[in-house]
Amino acid sequence: MIVVMGAAGATGSAALRSLAALGVPSRALSRDPARLAAGLDGRTLARTSVLAADAADPESLRAAFRGARRVFLTMANGPQQVRYELNAVEAAADCGVEHVVKVSAPAAEPDSPVAVSRGHHLVEERLRSCSVTATVLRPYAFMQKLLLLAPGIAAAGVVHGAMGRARCNYVDVRDIGDAAAAVLTDPEPAGGAYPLTGGRAYSHPELTALLGELLGRPVRYLDLSPAELHAHLVGRAGMPPWLATHVVEIQQLAVVREETPDDAFLRLTGRAPRTLEAFLRENLHRFR
Ligand SMILES: NC(=O)c1ccc[n+]([C@@H]2O[C@H](COP(=O)([O-])OP(=O)(O)OC[C@H]3O[C@@H](n4cnc5c(N)ncnc54)[C@H](OP(=O)(O)O)[C@@H]3O)[C@@H](O)[C@H]2O)c1
Repeated sequence: MIVVMGAAGATGSAALRSLAALGVPSRALSRDPARLAAGLDGRTLARTSVLAADAADPESLRAAFRGARRVFLTMANGPQQVRYELNAVEAAADCGVEHVVKVSAPAAEPDSPVAVSRGHHLVEERLRSCSVTATVLRPYAFMQKLLLLAPGIAAAGVVHGAMGRARCNYVDVRDIGDAAAAVLTDPEPAGGAYPLTGGRAYSHPELTALLGELLGRPVRYLDLSPAELHAHLVGRAGMPPWLATHVVEIQQLAVVREETPDDAFLRLTGRAPRTLEAFLRENLHRFR
């Protein structure tokens, strides 16, 4: 049995759908199983048993992992993320789970300039030190998060950022789901860490030029300082300050470490990743 944590979220629901598309049954966890079940399409629901579990409650995790051989571990960012994920790793080890596939992030290192990535590093280290085979997926920025820019583009034709002409790797969340399903169903998982990217990286000026071309009207990129971007995200976009700090840190990471496409997705799934252009075309109505 495969257990999918965070199954109502972006990466968890993608993994669940990809497993269902392969015809593989899974057990999906949520703190609110009724809401999770209500959000699943018919094909996915038919392959899924939905169970309540709260990562703040290790006993509920142990109950949810009982009899499972594989666990997909993904968790919302937040102040308790590391504690919740460590609870999941301990519970998986206690329950004899053979393989944990964890969603991490780029630059998951002890001295990472991104606080969330330092947290991912702690969980990765714990995972590698226990008896479980560990596969770590390190996706770059989700294409789907670009939809957060849609209101600003629709209203004023402007994108704000603080990364100059630095390029950013974008990955479609559906590809994260497909990569997760590939490793979760691998009969002999090797473990290891895999950066997940699209086929090409885009700078903000390149992204806005592409959007402008697709929309048939200009879209401008306004390059701000990191402090200005933080103030904009909190004051104008209504983002919680910790999340605005995270966004600024991610953009600064792209400035200091060049982002280039990686072939890990191709190696895991045997196909090329979805492209940013296709994603934008599919969602163009949201930017109008
Ligand atoms: N966004 C990006 O561009 C990006 C890029 C690289 C890496 N990442 C990494 O990707 C990871 C996953 O992101 P995501 O967007 O899939 O997350 P998400 O959609 O924000 O949240 C995933 C799930 O976490 C679950 N959760 C929260 N608290 C919980 C608790 N106490 N117990 C059990 N489940 C809990 C929620 O499930 P319920 O509410 O149903 O319980 C939620 O559905 C993050 O750790 C992030 O660092 C993100």
